[in-house]
Amino acid sequence: APSTDLQAEDATIAQGVVESNHAGFTGRGFVNYDNVAGSYVEFTINAPTAGNYEVKFRFANGTAVDRPLNVAVNGGAATGVGFPGTGAWTTWAEKSLTVPLIAGANKLRATASTANGGPNLDRISTTVPADTEPPTA
Ligand code: GCU
Repeated sequence: APSTDLQAEDATIAQGVVESNHAGFTGRGFVNYDNVAGSYVEFTINAPTAGNYEVKFRFANGTAVDRPLNVAVNGGAATGVGFPGTGAWTTWAEKSLTVPLIAGANKLRATASTANGGPNLDRISTTVPADTEPPTA
């Protein structure tokens, strides 16, 4: 299934900064969430059709403490997602979540829920559900 990458550094950032001092990121850098609850990154995801989509978050967490994010789509109920330690700030991992999207523009907001803030966030990758892919010739 084709996937679309959206860079965190191009998203809307509240209480966070774009940095590039830890290698291994894609694009121009990553978002370093401020170490505060409520800091967030909000992506606009354009979905070809309504449905459940897999969203993969590429992140690093160089601490031993989970950096959970509350993920909400289009202002709906948030889902808590854990972003555990990856061993180093230069070690990047992916965490998956399935979210319902409407056709067209969707807002996906990932908000830090602890005073530690979020993990360093590189990008999200959204996969079009298999059953909405156009048939191949
Ligand atoms: C360090 C690290 C940052 C990270 C921060 C944090 O300062 O260099 O990239 O975001 O810790 O704990 O959030």
